[in-house]
Amino acid sequence: MLTTNTEFLHPELMDVVRLFGENAPDVAHTFLYAENNFINTVLVGGREYDFCEAHACANELEFKRYAKRFAKLAVYEALRKETGRSMPWGALTGIRPTKLAYAELEAGRPFEPMFEKFGVSPENIALVRSVLQSQEGIYSKEEGAADLYIGIPFCPSKCNYCSFITADISKTGQYVGDYLTALEQEIASCRGLYRRLKSVYIGGGTPLVLSESELGRVLEAAAPFAADAGEYTVEAGRPDVFTDEKLQLLKDYGVTRICVNPQSFCDATLERIGRRHTSADIYRAYEMAQKFGFDVNFDLIAGLTGETCEEFEESVDRAIALSPENITVHTLCLKKGAQLKEEESFLNVERIQEMIAYSRERLSQSGYVPYYMYRQKYMAGNCENTGWTKPGKACVYNVDVMEEITDNLACGANAVGKKIFLHEGRIERQGAPKDIPTYIKKIDGIIAGKRALFGGK
Ligand SMILES: C[S@@+](CC[C@H](N)C(=O)[O-])C[C@H]1O[C@@H](n2cnc3c(N)ncnc32)[C@H](O)[C@@H]1O
Ligand code: SF4
Repeated sequence: MLTTNTEFLHPELMDVVRLFGENAPDVAHTFLYAENNFINTVLVGGREYDFCEAHACANELEFKRYAKRFAKLAVYEALRKETGRSMPWGALTGIRPTKLAYAELEAGRPFEPMFEKFGVSPENIALVRSVLQSQEGIYSKEEGAADLYIGIPFCPSKCNYCSFITADISKTGQYVGDYLTALEQEIASCRGLYRRLKSVYIGGGTPLVLSESELGRVLEAAAPFAADAGEYTVEAGRPDVFTDEKLQLLKDYGVTRICVNPQSFCDATLERIGRRHTSADIYRAYEMAQKFGFDVNFDLIAGLTGETCEEFEESVDRAIALSPENITVHTLCLKKGAQLKEEESFLNVERIQEMIAYSRERLSQSGYVPYYMYRQKYMAGNCENTGWTKPGKACVYNVDVMEEITDNLACGANAVGKKIFLHEGRIERQGAPKDIPTYIKKIDGIIAGKRALFGGK
């Protein structure tokens, strides 16, 4: 339980308490601001911890930012001392640590001192440093630059860990035709909404679950945009839906990069998580992708149900042995959308951290560099998701989305468009309905909203 005398700090402090798991001790927090001093007192386990930080604020916004920062740090420090446990990202609870690092650099300061103060581990500080280095030449803030996202919320079956809003096509198949009609209109409405288009990304769900003719409709709608963009990814997805004909279609429409996602190379795990494919299918799908000359990304997840460290490590080794251009290592994240709620491994912090440490070491040794990373709430072991790339093969779309430096023209049910107002330092979001029939019904309003938000370029 957490109590505080300052209501606006409560959600932020709750995020810190949550880092220490379900059995975190009760915390009573008090905040006081006097003569530019941020005074935080934290009562944990009958002990009182006092913290005082001096900082003169230029305005209310800055005051709130620093109040949150220092209060989180105080609660984290008190819990760390009380429990004897440190977290890999210390008191940082935000989704985008790299954005924080860029903000420090833009303010003319190295980012490391702030991260050290927040208790971020040296390994994670080094990770952020490497990500920033890999983004050199990609990271650029440019008014009117955009990426186009197209969402296909259909899957061959629902994997039991999956936290995305997507459904088994056997239950939603009746909507595919009308969904594609609405999607075609929304995609067409993006014409003229950008000055420069950097990439096109068709994600999901599982785009290749569509039939050839349905997939052809999406690719045809995206074709004028793909002609403007330098990078074109299709999150083809599960190896069980790959066919030569569909890959040929992607090739014909100029797709440059596809995702072939193993999640794990262990057959017992694949069965347990409801993937409905084997490791042999992964090899087969990868071979097909290579035959067509696509750049390939593999998604892996650390912390899947019942997986041992050894099994995860073997997946990392097998992925590296195949040598795709990108390997993305996710940490299992439990959200409402996933069937697995009470996952035992979720609580096994040390084991997950060991898996992530192994992936970092092996990928670095094998010539991969980390090029984007992000965190989510409720991540196993308080770890992160990291995209690794061979030099020169980083996916521009992933960098743009994670760093929020370009407009995201997002189309489809549950897609979240983002307009970046660079000069004002703010972001406006436009979320589409999650539910497919509602998306279809409201398509005219969605398009009008999109043109109003992005119309000014
Ligand atoms: C939108 S999904 C689409 C991928 C594609 N349908 C597939 O399954 O191969 C993108 C990725 O998110 C990751 N993912 C989904 N649910 C997750 C969870 N609960 N925790 C961690 N990663 C997750 C998986 O690695 C997945 O490949
Ligand atoms: S992991 Fe992929 S295939 Fe499985 S349910 Fe999620 S989006 Fe669909």
